Amino acid sequence: MMRVVHTVAELHKILLPYWRKGDPIGFAPTMGALHDGHCSLLRQSRADHNALTIASIFVNPLQFGPGEDYDEYPRDLQNDVKIAREAGADLVFAPSVAEMYPRGFVTFVDMEKLTERLCGAHRPGHFKGVLTVVFKLFAVVRPNHAYFGQKDYQQSVIIQRMITDLNLDVKMHIMPIIREPDGLAMSSRNAYLGTKHRQEALVLHQALDRAKELIGGGEKNVKKLQAEVRRLIGAVKGAKLDYVSIVHPETLEDVNDVSGKTVVLVAARFGKTRLIDNVIVD
Ligand code: PAJ
Repeated sequence: MMRVVHTVAELHKILLPYWRKGDPIGFAPTMGALHDGHCSLLRQSRADHNALTIASIFVNPLQFGPGEDYDEYPRDLQNDVKIAREAGADLVFAPSVAEMYPRGFVTFVDMEKLTERLCGAHRPGHFKGVLTVVFKLFAVVRPNHAYFGQKDYQQSVIIQRMITDLNLDVKMHIMPIIREPDGLAMSSRNAYLGTKHRQEALVLHQALDRAKELIGGGEKNVKKLQAEVRRLIGAVKGAKLDYVSIVHPETLEDVNDVSGKTVVLVAARFGKTRLIDNVIVD
């Protein structure tokens, strides 16, 4: 039987016996509109023999900037609960905004450097909102294992950094990007795309694939690789590139040439829909 819980107090009551016995808890935080990318995290938690697999569903207002899609973000708790159950969740935690941020809330988790680059440069305050909510969710769930997707590569690096810097006792697992059959990375925001932009958005994966292929063929020159990705995305009328970056996997700093493990990341807007994708090369 799967439970749906809306308050911290109710969650606490259910989890107390697991905490006491030290039974491992697996946790995948989400903003809902669940798709197979989310499900892969829940399935991994089950496969890892956690005693309890928990999904949170919370559209976190703190991580949306002014003019971003907080109001439009797809919300369908009933359907999400069904999907989470089928993926193997034992419990869904779906708090209200008032439950997470009661009147008087003034404490935040913030981070330097890593949050200022890539998506952080285009979405001021976004990662402060992410870190704050993930810290709070870790505090109320107290998971032993937390599951995140490589889809949000920078987010996963930042959360791992928070775990390390603040001595949180959580083991982070980063799962591969789940894609649609045609290669588009699954995202709750794909639902915004009309037919034209949906087709055009394929260029993100295609351009990253091309970069990977060039690197596989021995191309190490970052400027040349970036130029090729820019050219491919630039050729698509509806695509507005935010960035194409080739970075060190942990520091997220630009590399001068590709040697060893490196990440190629892109972000682009199709109409009002902002999409991201990345590939790890070695
Ligand atoms: P959301 O975008 O709902 O994503 C929840 C988790 O699912 C993240 O770890 C994300 O990387 C992963 N995910 C999304 N699409 C994926 C895909 N195609 N393949 C694999 N994993 C995928 O990320 C957030 O929510 C929020 O910022 C959150 C961490 C919940 C904090 O509010």
